[in-house]
Amino acid sequence: MTRSALSFPAGFLWGAATAAYQIEGAAREGGRGESIWDVFCRVPGAVADAQNGGVACDHYHRTAEDIALMKDLNLAAYRFSISWARCMPDGVTPNPEGIAFYSRLVDQLLDAGITPWVTLYHWDLPQALEDKGGWASRETAERFAAYAALMHEALGDRVRIWTTLNEPWVSAFLGYAAGIHAPGRREPAAALAAVHHLLLGHGLAVRELRRRDPEATLGITLNLTVADPADPDREGDVDAARRVDGQSNRLFLDPIFRGEYPADVLADVAHLGMADVVRPGDLDVISAPVDVLGVNYYHGDAFTTDPEPRPAQPASPLVAADGVRQVPRGLPVTGMGWEVQPEGLRRLLNRLQREYTGPAGIPIYITENGAAFEDVPDAAGFVDDQARLAFFDEHLRALHASLADGVDVRGYFAWSLLDNFEWAFGYHQRFGLVRVDYDTQRRIPKASGLWYSRVAASNALTAMDESA
Ligand code: FCB
Repeated sequence: MTRSALSFPAGFLWGAATAAYQIEGAAREGGRGESIWDVFCRVPGAVADAQNGGVACDHYHRTAEDIALMKDLNLAAYRFSISWARCMPDGVTPNPEGIAFYSRLVDQLLDAGITPWVTLYHWDLPQALEDKGGWASRETAERFAAYAALMHEALGDRVRIWTTLNEPWVSAFLGYAAGIHAPGRREPAAALAAVHHLLLGHGLAVRELRRRDPEATLGITLNLTVADPADPDREGDVDAARRVDGQSNRLFLDPIFRGEYPADVLADVAHLGMADVVRPGDLDVISAPVDVLGVNYYHGDAFTTDPEPRPAQPASPLVAADGVRQVPRGLPVTGMGWEVQPEGLRRLLNRLQREYTGPAGIPIYITENGAAFEDVPDAAGFVDDQARLAFFDEHLRALHASLADGVDVRGYFAWSLLDNFEWAFGYHQRFGLVRVDYDTQRRIPKASGLWYSRVAASNALTAMDESA
């Protein structure tokens, strides 16, 4: 099969993404406070091989080298997150040394001609705030808005694009219900309270940033999925897909774009008391207009409620409690076990445009997409990662098809610039365009990274001859 050459619209933004805890290291330097991930990593069994982000990619000490790398890869934009606990060690009190780190990073990026795209929160809540209830507590939402204001004060003259939260679904459901992410709680009611307080924090931060800086571009990044019934003719499976779509997608999209929680999801979880934490006016705050929607897409899945044993895995905790299981469809999978489903990206984007972003008139950016595979370096440390390269190519072709369908997608960020600390998987799952040798901290662009640099420079996918 031959894949044709495709070019992207002028000005399409090409970048790569990272997150503070996954790459910075320097966990005890510069006055940084502890975050929930520092604490969670010390819980026996929480992270593979008791690994942690204490050193990670040592990016804190290697920003100049890493920015040079971005430049070599022709990246026009770099999406990174700020460690709240570096800038406010107790979640409240500013730490000038931590703030200065990000200020220098932004200056260096701009000197290199790279647009800084800031994510304020990528899962590393200051532990001091978790000690007071974390995202299950309303106070955290207010603290988050104060933190957003502080960072804008420091960086707003140079940073023009701000994402409030990365993937609140993960923070809430994996952190507070499944307990497989920090803070490791297994309290479904707290997870739903966390959903609301994360969204409220987003809304309060948008209000704060908008007031200070009407010209800034503001958004949120959601991890969205396509949930299919394993058997479209089986009523239970159709309902399973509805539940997953409800909790993964609509529970976040509806309040942001429509100012209301989806009634069917509220009914599904009525016994968990979510309605009790929602106060009058909250949904107005949450639905304050954003300028962009960030979409992280990794995979879609098929779901069933059929209890018969067949290869199936529990779905995310709240729907699993309702008997929903995920059924593998025989598609190729990545190192994470995630099904490779590029056509899902096109369906997702088209649906978002139709139901949410189109009516609101706002563009979409893919803020993360990528894959882990078992990388085998040669003697020189080079990784010829054809599977990852093909993953990017296929997803970019799906994105391109969406553009042709009329969806307003303005840019794409590969996850990730570097191999890094992949949360509960530690360093065992590698997503980088660039290999990191964790013993020496040497960075070596992979075949996918070199390929991506050509895509970014030419704003096009070249023809690929798969028979070769
Ligand atoms: C996303 C996260 C990112 C990384 C990728 C693989 O959910 O935002 O930090 O872990 O998955």
